[in-house]
Amino acid sequence: MRPASRDFDLVVTGGTCVTPWGALETDLGVRDGRIAELGPLSGRVAAERFDAHGLHVLPGIIDSQVHFREPGLEHKETIASGTAAALLGGVTTVLEMPNTVPPTTSPEALADKLARVPGRASTDIAFFVGATEANAEALASLERLPGCAGVKLFMGSSTGSLLVDDEAALTDVMRHGRRRVAVHAEDEARLRARRHLVEAPGTRVEAHPVWRDERSAERATERCLRVARRFGRRVHILHVTTAEELDLLEEHRDLATFEVTPQHLTLSAPGCYETLGTLAQMNPPIREARHREALWHAVRVGLVDVIGSDHAPHTREEKARPYPASPSGMPGVQTLLPVMLTHVHEGRLSLSRLVELVASGPARVYGIARKGRIAVGADADITVVDLKRRVHLTHAMMRSACGWTPFDGMEVVGFPVAALLRGRIAMRDGELVGPPTGRVFAFEETLGSG
Ligand code: DOR
Repeated sequence: MRPASRDFDLVVTGGTCVTPWGALETDLGVRDGRIAELGPLSGRVAAERFDAHGLHVLPGIIDSQVHFREPGLEHKETIASGTAAALLGGVTTVLEMPNTVPPTTSPEALADKLARVPGRASTDIAFFVGATEANAEALASLERLPGCAGVKLFMGSSTGSLLVDDEAALTDVMRHGRRRVAVHAEDEARLRARRHLVEAPGTRVEAHPVWRDERSAERATERCLRVARRFGRRVHILHVTTAEELDLLEEHRDLATFEVTPQHLTLSAPGCYETLGTLAQMNPPIREARHREALWHAVRVGLVDVIGSDHAPHTREEKARPYPASPSGMPGVQTLLPVMLTHVHEGRLSLSRLVELVASGPARVYGIARKGRIAVGADADITVVDLKRRVHLTHAMMRSACGWTPFDGMEVVGFPVAALLRGRIAMRDGELVGPPTGRVFAFEETLGSG
């Protein structure tokens, strides 16, 4: 317990705090795990001080799309390894996807994941439940369970068995429940019809975006928006990859939010396939530079709501299988922030826009109650970054159980040097501090979860 004579448990001094109302050079006082004060605090009594002079103090980064593979595929990742990687990358909160084995489609499967958090998660965490043709009605109550981040729906099949491809089932999911539905938008019928394009022996991974083409993504997004509109159901389109979808999303701004990934903003075809081979294979695919440029434009003009990593670990042995037997997905939770800070350094977006995309944006989209902003009353989740720090990313630095990164060899400029989780210094100078203290967190009251 804090003695009555002490004002704060921790004061972060002298950093530049990126708040919703601007970047301020100010101290930040933490009490009982929350931000209690912003302003000059030099005369106040604190148990601990963190000197942030010369550093930027950001709200704890929220990665709202990660696949941690537990239960069932722990050789690729676990909640322990995935959240440790996240924290080393300056991410303090993750929303985890349901395509595990078994998939998270029932109260029991969600309860099983929740039971795996205490003492093992290094970040705060919540879990999506997966939509299926069979559980559409049950989703209305499932989505309100504590620890549930919302509903995830796969319109096209990717890793795992989750799929809602027919219109009646899609309609059923959209009708039941109220929370925003997170959608993987690729059109299953078109993917099936075009699968022959990659089935000839010797087909190279360069064919991946030809098979899973622009039209596959556009058709699914169109259909999703049309059905969601009928019920006024809010949706969040994950990992948008095409210029064409952006126009649609602009039209449906009152209904739909959307995400782009650092991979789609950084890599482009065909170069990524030439240098990375199947390591660059993901769904929806990395496409040509014209799409990447359109995504950047959407970032700059305020259309994009969220940047999420779509951290999708597979082992190097699995990725080395000949295409198309190689699984789709790249890890990214540990590199999300440094890669995006490098884009800030190179002038592609401002630091405050980045904070919007990786903190306040995900909090707004999913209704996370006390995270995503530096403000009094918020959880004291803080990511401290050195915008000048240059680091060469390597496979060896990655804490993910999969042990590799598509950004191996890249020099990043801007790096997380510390992270506070609800007021405790949980990462400092590339090391985790103390045992894992991650917890399940609360969403806004009206959403019924938390
Ligand atoms: O490439 C992908 N991999 N896209 C997804 O949507 C799923 C993910 C995975 O879980 O491996």
